[in-house]
Amino acid sequence: MSHCLTFALAVLAATISSACAQGAVYSQCGGQGWSGATTCVSGAVCTVVNDYYSQCLPGTATSTVGTTTTSATGSSPTGSAGSLKFTGVNIAGFDFGCGTDGTCNTTQAWPPLAQYGGNDGQSQMQHFVQNDGFNMFRLPVGWQWLVNNQLGGALNSANLAEYDSLVQACLGTGAYCIIDIHNYARWNGAIIGQGGPTNAQFASVWSALASKYASQSKILFGVMNEPHDVPSITTWATSVQAAVTAIRQAGATSQMILLPGNDWTSAGSFVSDGSAAALSTVKNPDGSTTNLIFDVHKYLDSDNSGTHAECTTNNIDSAWTPLVQWLRTNKRQALNTETGGGNTASCVQFMCQQIAFQAQNSDVILGYVGWSAGNFNSTYVLSEVPNGSSDTSLVSSCLSPKAGAQSGST
Ligand SMILES: *[C@@H]1O[C@H](CO)[C@@H](O)[C@H](O)[C@H]1NC(C)=O
Ligand SMILES: *[C@@H]1O[C@H](CO)[C@@H](O)[C@H](O)[C@H]1NC(C)=O
Ligand SMILES: *[C@@H]1O[C@H](CO)[C@@H](O)[C@H](O)[C@H]1NC(C)=O
Repeated sequence: MSHCLTFALAVLAATISSACAQGAVYSQCGGQGWSGATTCVSGAVCTVVNDYYSQCLPGTATSTVGTTTTSATGSSPTGSAGSLKFTGVNIAGFDFGCGTDGTCNTTQAWPPLAQYGGNDGQSQMQHFVQNDGFNMFRLPVGWQWLVNNQLGGALNSANLAEYDSLVQACLGTGAYCIIDIHNYARWNGAIIGQGGPTNAQFASVWSALASKYASQSKILFGVMNEPHDVPSITTWATSVQAAVTAIRQAGATSQMILLPGNDWTSAGSFVSDGSAAALSTVKNPDGSTTNLIFDVHKYLDSDNSGTHAECTTNNIDSAWTPLVQWLRTNKRQALNTETGGGNTASCVQFMCQQIAFQAQNSDVILGYVGWSAGNFNSTYVLSEVPNGSSDTSLVSSCLSPKAGAQSGST
């Protein structure tokens, strides 16, 4: 109760009742740094998940008191994502037709923009910013689309114009925008720098993109989506270095660049598979690592694939805790550019836990980007496509940075 009191004295009377209300089912109700409600609505029990997170879970047992904070600051209860720098959503479509072997059939790329016959990605992004408070979008695109199947060739002006329409729609919302080349470290089955495209061919596409967006401070360069089964992680790091050097030399000197490891950029194996050590050698031309951010993905289903409607883990013990410890020790940061789950109670439960943990470690975890909105339809198991102004349940319950505030006010 002391935290409610501290809070009540610090804010307008109008918000007192919501701040001290009982937590809704699946909302946070305790954990280090938590200053919101510590009791749950009838039918839910405040349950300790770990030191950082207690959650109102369905049940009728006698309430337990969640781990409470010793450092209430009176900050507003803006939901568990509150302290993260970035919260966002993938806007997929230009990557459609890309397989995990790095083939991208350009006839299947489908711009997620109404003017090109797709879903209205611009309205989606405007909704996510205005209604949910998201501030980042990731815009996957196939390498083959960008260069119209000419490996090492120039950006194709017609294709780039369509992709740039999405980038500009993103920038127009005021959000940060990630350019994501969605090729799994490959071009048509062969691995960059390890039998496939040369590092120079890879660098050339990044040089061209960085040159185009050099003056845009809210662009992030996502070097590559989900490398996997890459034989040599140290050789891969030299390919990533080639991209970083090309981006910086093209004039994009200060934007964030996202560095992807092996094993589908899994957060859970980033340290153990050697990706962290190898990518630590990647530097800016001045020798620094400023704004070189590690890119990690994590799903919450039984096989970390993001293909199941039900979630089975919050990944905290298996992935986020060891990653956070490594990042802090090595003074580096990571961004979780893909995570997601079905619109199910299990995913709401585990995703809220994962996000709360990330937020408690926001010194080294910059944020998360949900998979996915864009050109999916409502039959897609991980759809985050809003229906008009109505969000899917996982977005409205967890992924939206306003989710905590909404659930806390019921
Ligand atoms: C690319 O996709 C189109 C349309 O689905 C299909 O007709 C074509 O065979 C595909 N090309 C390859 C090489 O798979
Ligand atoms: C929805 O998307 C799936 C593929 O994810 C497709 O098979 C299906 O035809 C689509 N449904 C509609 C109504 O567009
Ligand atoms: C979208 O919402 C409308 C009503 O607001 C509803 O009739 C429609 O079925 C919804 N569509 C989907 C795909 O859920």
